[in-house]
Amino acid sequence: MKRITILGSTGSIGKQTLEIVAQFPDQFKVIGLSCHRQIETLKSQILQFKPQYVAVHSKSDREEVSQFLKRYKLKIDILVGNEGLIALSRIESTDLMIVAIVGTAGIAPTFEAIGNGISIGLACKEVLVSAGDIIMALAKKRKVPILPIDSEHSAIQHCLSGVSGDMSTIDRLILTASGGPFLNRPKHTFSSITREEALNHPNWKMGSKISIDSATMMNKGLEVIEAHHLFQVPYSKIEVIVHPQSIIHSMVAFDDGTLLSQMSLPDMRLPIQAVLTYPKRCNNPWPKTELATLPPLTFQKPDTNQFPLLKLAYECGEKGGIYPAVMNAANEAIVSQFLNGDIQFEHIFDKVTQVVEQCVQVDSPSIHEILAIDKEIKDRLCPKNLTYV
Ligand SMILES: NC(=O)c1ccc[n+]([C@@H]2O[C@H](COP(=O)([O-])OP(=O)(O)OC[C@H]3O[C@@H](n4cnc5c(N)ncnc54)[C@H](OP(=O)(O)O)[C@@H]3O)[C@@H](O)[C@H]2O)c1
Repeated sequence: MKRITILGSTGSIGKQTLEIVAQFPDQFKVIGLSCHRQIETLKSQILQFKPQYVAVHSKSDREEVSQFLKRYKLKIDILVGNEGLIALSRIESTDLMIVAIVGTAGIAPTFEAIGNGISIGLACKEVLVSAGDIIMALAKKRKVPILPIDSEHSAIQHCLSGVSGDMSTIDRLILTASGGPFLNRPKHTFSSITREEALNHPNWKMGSKISIDSATMMNKGLEVIEAHHLFQVPYSKIEVIVHPQSIIHSMVAFDDGTLLSQMSLPDMRLPIQAVLTYPKRCNNPWPKTELATLPPLTFQKPDTNQFPLLKLAYECGEKGGIYPAVMNAANEAIVSQFLNGDIQFEHIFDKVTQVVEQCVQVDSPSIHEILAIDKEIKDRLCPKNLTYV
């Protein structure tokens, strides 16, 4: 049995992870779960999966969960706040920790788990965007695998598994992008985009922050930086291609002109399952890909005039140092502003760019410097609170 902990079990990726655990009860034991605001969802997960530890946001949440556990005569350790997440990431009996938190709140727990030799299933791309050099170096030193849950990176990992470590014949990695809900919307109408329209992704049902990132195409920029770190390839060898049907999840192009791709229906349970059962594949009851019923598969180059944050992410990735962390913090804060109704959709692009333009480079920043600049930018831009509700 694989013993797993899920950070962010109450979110979109977290819930789908538990759906797979429930599908294969003989293969997995849930050791730990964490939530932020959705205490009621956590309570029902506690009853179903009986973890040994849970982490909650505040002391009052701990009191509430404690009363709940008494009622059901359950003995579970309740951990609190950021320290609680760190403690949860240190539980030695954990075989695999799924990082399904959104945003840079995932950095410290991921760092801690790797330091303790715990394998990582990584959904939280912001961890590698802001602290990729440090996280990957630690994972290499501790020989800890980081298995990507993002469907694009999962696809590339599958394609590369046929290359048996010889990267010298690879011409480039090709990340596919759906283009989001505004792929074909004229830019001059962006001023009237509503929150509901921006959250309504055509192919995927996801949490609100990643949905807005998909609508601005910043999500693909974050994924370019994530791919750079995961697969250790230069930015010049990472291409983005818009593929609105989201059937091909990404590709690897070789020197001889051939391509390997990975295909399936757009269903996040597939890359999550691949991480949970790695390196095995298991049958499952989810809908299978019927080629004859698929729509025509189309491809086009991304329009970085329409979606300039994709270009900005390449630029920040190339500059390295503190730039990706600054860009990411600005994006998290400004997406939160948009979701709170404080700014319009069309202003996200300029506002993120302005913060990056003020960035002062720090070469090889430490994890403390990264977390400090992250906090400084978020406190400045979202003095009330940063939320994605
Ligand atoms: N959803 C997808 O299909 C998908 C695909 C690829 C990659 N990803 C990546 O996976 C990550 C999670 O995405 P999601 O769509 O699952 O997001 P989500 O539905 O918003 O869930 C986020 C999870 O993180 C918790 N959380 C939020 N803020 C936190 C904080 N400050 N400290 C601790 N926990 C916090 C939430 O708790 P509460 O709900 O209890 O508040 C929730 O459990 C993101 O980095 C995203 O880019 C998602």
